[in-house]
Amino acid sequence: MYPDMRLRRTRSSEHMRKLVRETQIILDKLVMPVFVDETIDSPTPIKSMPDVFSYDLNSLKHYAQTLVNKGVHNVLLFGIPSKKDDEGTQAYAEDAIVQKAIPILKNAGLLVITDLCMCEYTDHGHCGIIRDGDVDNDTTLEIYAKIASSQARAGSDMIAPSGMMDGQILSIRKALDRAGFKNTPIMAYSAKYASNLYGPFRDAAKSTPAYGNRRSYQMDSANSREAMREIDLDIQEGADIIMVKPSLFYLDIVKEASTTFNKPLAVYGVSGEYNMIKNAIMEGVFDQDIILEYATSVFRAGADIFITYFAVQLCEILGKPLNENLKLTSR
Ligand code: PBG
Ligand code: ZN
Repeated sequence: MYPDMRLRRTRSSEHMRKLVRETQIILDKLVMPVFVDETIDSPTPIKSMPDVFSYDLNSLKHYAQTLVNKGVHNVLLFGIPSKKDDEGTQAYAEDAIVQKAIPILKNAGLLVITDLCMCEYTDHGHCGIIRDGDVDNDTTLEIYAKIASSQARAGSDMIAPSGMMDGQILSIRKALDRAGFKNTPIMAYSAKYASNLYGPFRDAAKSTPAYGNRRSYQMDSANSREAMREIDLDIQEGADIIMVKPSLFYLDIVKEASTTFNKPLAVYGVSGEYNMIKNAIMEGVFDQDIILEYATSVFRAGADIFITYFAVQLCEILGKPLNENLKLTSR
């Protein structure tokens, strides 16, 4: 107890603070979301996501190299097709945009995780097949199975289903095994909440539902026990990595999942989180150090993997030699 015990002793300098720091941001554990868009022919800024762009196939090659040079190892790939229909056929066509983008990213040396959903590919913008005014779970699973094997054939390193259909992990696992991809892992968007924080993403992916919302399949933000059930079921169905999404308003869920389950836990810091933080930095309200505080809080809560649009900027900040980083802090 005070005056013998003085916790300030180990806060005296940046070297000292680093020595006792409990949580590290490890660049290997960051994943950068990447948008490849068939309707554009040069890098195109995403509305409400400053400094984030969509790429066409040509410019993607250069961007992939830039990512590697900056120290990003992992990407989560999203595709935006030029043709959308009610069955989302461009999600699994062999010559579709994501299928073409995968080898480009892999050739640059990146680990490629492919998001598996239908909302970017359907003309109605929902995450599955519509029957009687709602997304029909089991018909949708058949399409998800096709998308999974198509992405694996194109070389995807890991499949990440985000549609929140019941049974999606089991049906994708079976499809991958049948197609000869027993060793392709699944990163399950297990506890994905129906959140207002996805707005900027839907600009980029042009995937705002034409009618209704996603509340009949994504989780109600009020529920945490249900999140544990979602994760538990995904693990039973064969998920290799589990996920909580979004991050900032849901760190209690992250904490609980990390102490409850024995699987790598990914956390997705979504587009709306990026928007809020990025805009405040640009307005001068926050120092860019807030990005470190943000990432640290997600890892401290128990994330093993952090999917974030700040991945590139985090690499830039943390990749600098120690003495340059010291300049960011006063002492
Ligand atoms: C597709 C998908 C979405 C996000 C990831 N995959 C959008 C949605 O569910 O509406 C959101 C990512 C973000 O906001 O950064 N199902
Ligand atoms: Zn979707």
